[in-house]
Amino acid sequence: MTAVRPETETASTGLLRFPPGFVWGAATAAYQIEGAVAEDGRTPSIWDTFSHTPGRVHNGDTGDIAADHYHRFRDDVALMADLGLGAYRFSVSWSRVQPTGRGPAVQRGLDFYRALADELLGKGITPVATLYHWDLPQDLEEVGGWTVRDTAERFADFAAIMAGALGDRVPYWTTLNEPWCSAFLGYGSGVHAPGRTEPDAALKAAHHLNLAHGRAIGVLRSTLPATARTSITLNLHQVRPLDGSAAALDAARRIDAVGNRIFTGPILHGDYPADLLEDTAHVVDWQALVRDGDLAEISRPIDLLGINYYTPTVVSGPQPAPDGTEAARFDGHGASAHSPWPGSEQVAFHLPPGETTAMSWAVDASGLYDLLRRTAEENPGLPLMVTENGAAFDDYVSPEGAVNDPRRIDYLRGHLAAVHRAMADGADVRGYFLWSLMDNFEWSYGYSKRFGAVYVDYATQTRIPKSSAHWYAQVARTGEITE
Ligand code: NOJ
Repeated sequence: MTAVRPETETASTGLLRFPPGFVWGAATAAYQIEGAVAEDGRTPSIWDTFSHTPGRVHNGDTGDIAADHYHRFRDDVALMADLGLGAYRFSVSWSRVQPTGRGPAVQRGLDFYRALADELLGKGITPVATLYHWDLPQDLEEVGGWTVRDTAERFADFAAIMAGALGDRVPYWTTLNEPWCSAFLGYGSGVHAPGRTEPDAALKAAHHLNLAHGRAIGVLRSTLPATARTSITLNLHQVRPLDGSAAALDAARRIDAVGNRIFTGPILHGDYPADLLEDTAHVVDWQALVRDGDLAEISRPIDLLGINYYTPTVVSGPQPAPDGTEAARFDGHGASAHSPWPGSEQVAFHLPPGETTAMSWAVDASGLYDLLRRTAEENPGLPLMVTENGAAFDDYVSPEGAVNDPRRIDYLRGHLAAVHRAMADGADVRGYFLWSLMDNFEWSYGYSKRFGAVYVDYATQTRIPKSSAHWYAQVARTGEITE
């Protein structure tokens, strides 16, 4: 795995060629696709509890069946092979493997992920495992969840189990997916499980997630073969001030601190940023929270940084709405009376003009370019991977049985061109994972939002590759896009 610059594009044809060895993948997560929530010893996670709580998820949808991937994984892997994918990023359901979040592993749980990895390898697809994609065993939430240090310890044990069981067949390991969402949507705004709305709990969760990551990296490094690659995936916010005013610039700094640097600071640079500690000093006692030795554990070296990007975040200082009521809080993370941004409650969020997806997220590929460039400049020598990028649109099956999604193709093409440009300008990006392989349970939006390259008819569990899937297959096969 070496850094390679992409070939210079030929301006006349608009053909962009990615370097050989660039990883073309697609991603999913356990609770969003697996279903089989009560089978083979699996017990509830916080998302089972949350989705079964009336009023939490759109339409009362749950992950009980989802895309039934637990039973259909062989067909799904065959579909991936048809699409020419080089890699598949999946997550492990913790409570399928360790039902109470502690103690011995359930063999049938391990068997499922082993069989999945083997099926992938058999088709020449590289398995990329994420240990935590938001589905904490409910039993651990009962004793405090991510707000208590012990959960980091439990996570390290779980990492050891998984590394022992899959280390011989999975070459890429990610500790956490988007810990910002786990901490701030789960414990701050409450739009994600476990649905708590306590700003101090959100900050405690963020620190304990960082600690869990660091401890798991230690365990993975000592258990996995030397060739394995370890990483974390962050949803870095590409924060943009609405204008050049001092208030907007300060808002951007605050959101960058509590949205990004709260993770990149300790993980990549060994410390929490001073301005974050100051902005949130009235919310949590950082001195009591961060113990001696924590930062050394959290900043253990990683081999790769995963970045998830969908849309930029535009902010200003507080702005009264025209009718005098409080300005709407549009931050793209779901409606809640509670802010997910401790210490930055006064910041106003703005939807930039232009095209939006079905999530009401602005389509802006330059945000991905800026994010990759900045991350590369701040972390020389650290390879990057786009571990999620994609869009939800209101897809439907035509009378002929096809799903045509030209807007998704445009979105993907534009964002891949941004990746290519960032690489040409020096960012060491090793691969790209489309979110998502197939339509799935989109958290608090339930099944109402479709992100898949493959359409899922939930009534029959039929899979229909959308036109974007055929387009992406071609890209994966040739390593080229035409702008
Ligand atoms: C990020 C999350 O990792 C994934 O689970 C989610 O479905 C997508 N973004 C789209 O919102």
